[in-house]
Amino acid sequence: MDLSGKGVFLTGGARGIGRGLTEALLSKGAKVMFCDMRVETGKATEAELQKTFGADKFGAVDICVNNAGIMDESRWEKMTEVNVVAPIRVSQLALDHMRRDRGGRGGLIINTVSELGLSSMHFCPAYTASKHAILGFTTSWAKNPTMKDMGVKWRCFCPKLTDTNLVNEIKDRMLEDLDGFLTMSSAKDARMSVDETAQEFLKLVQDQGSDDVIYLVRKNGASGYVRRQLVDTDGVSNAVTVD
Ligand SMILES: NC(=O)c1ccc[n+]([C@@H]2O[C@H](COP(=O)([O-])OP(=O)(O)OC[C@H]3O[C@@H](n4cnc5c(N)ncnc54)[C@H](O)[C@@H]3O)[C@@H](O)[C@H]2O)c1
Repeated sequence: MDLSGKGVFLTGGARGIGRGLTEALLSKGAKVMFCDMRVETGKATEAELQKTFGADKFGAVDICVNNAGIMDESRWEKMTEVNVVAPIRVSQLALDHMRRDRGGRGGLIINTVSELGLSSMHFCPAYTASKHAILGFTTSWAKNPTMKDMGVKWRCFCPKLTDTNLVNEIKDRMLEDLDGFLTMSSAKDARMSVDETAQEFLKLVQDQGSDDVIYLVRKNGASGYVRRQLVDTDGVSNAVTVD
C-alpha cells in the first residue's frame, strides 16, 4: 500500500512502539492522528514530530492501529480493559467508519498483538491471555465472508520483545518469576529496538498482497505471515488449518 496521504489513527503514540510506528508512517507521507493517556508526553511527541514532518488537515481514517497496551499482572482486570476491550471497541468503530457497503472508502485495521499471542509465557499469564484474545478477535473478523464487500482488511502485528518502557518498568508489575523474566529479557540480542520493530511494521502495511492476517516479527529480515494450525497428534486425523 502506498502510504502517501493516507489517514492513520493510532492509539498509544506518545512513546515506545507507538511513537516509532507514528514516525515510520509519517516518513512515508501518511497523516497520523494518535491518542494517548500520557497527555504531557503525547503533546511533547506531537510537537517534536510536527517540527520534523509538519502538520496537515486530517480527513478520513484509512488505517486504524490499535497499539496501546499495558503489561501489569497485578492489575489484570485493568489490563484486560486496555489490551482487549479497548481494541475491540475501536476496531468496531473503525469498521463502521471504513466499510464500503455503508458509504466508507475501505481500509485496514491493525491490532498490535505480540509473539505471545501465538505462544505461552509463565511470567505473565494474564498479559498472554489478553494477546490471545485480541488475536482471536482479529482473525475472526478477517474471516467474515462479507469483508470483501466491506473493503476492510484485518491484520495482527506480532512484535518480538522490544526495548520500551513497557519492558523496562516491569519491576513494579508483580510477575510470579520476576528474576526469570529479567534474565530472559536482558539476554544479549533478546530485544529489538523500537526502530527495528517499526521498520517491520512498515513492511506489513506496505505489503498487502497477502490474504493472511497474522504477521510475526522475526529478526534478520525473517518476518512474515504465519498461520495457526491444529497439529495432527494422533497420527489418524488430518491436520486442520484454522487460519
Ligand atoms: N515492548 C515489547 O516487548 C512488546 C512486544 C510485543 C507487543 N508489544 C505491544 O506493543 C504495544 C506497545 O507497547 P510498548 O512496548 O510500546 O509500551 P509503552 O508502555 O512504551 O507504550 C505504550 C503507550 O500506550 C499508552 N497507553 C497505555 N494505556 C493507554 C490507554 N488506556 N489509552 C491510551 N493510551 C494508552 C501509554 O501511555 C504509552 O504511551 C502494546 O500493545 C504491547 O502489548 C510490546
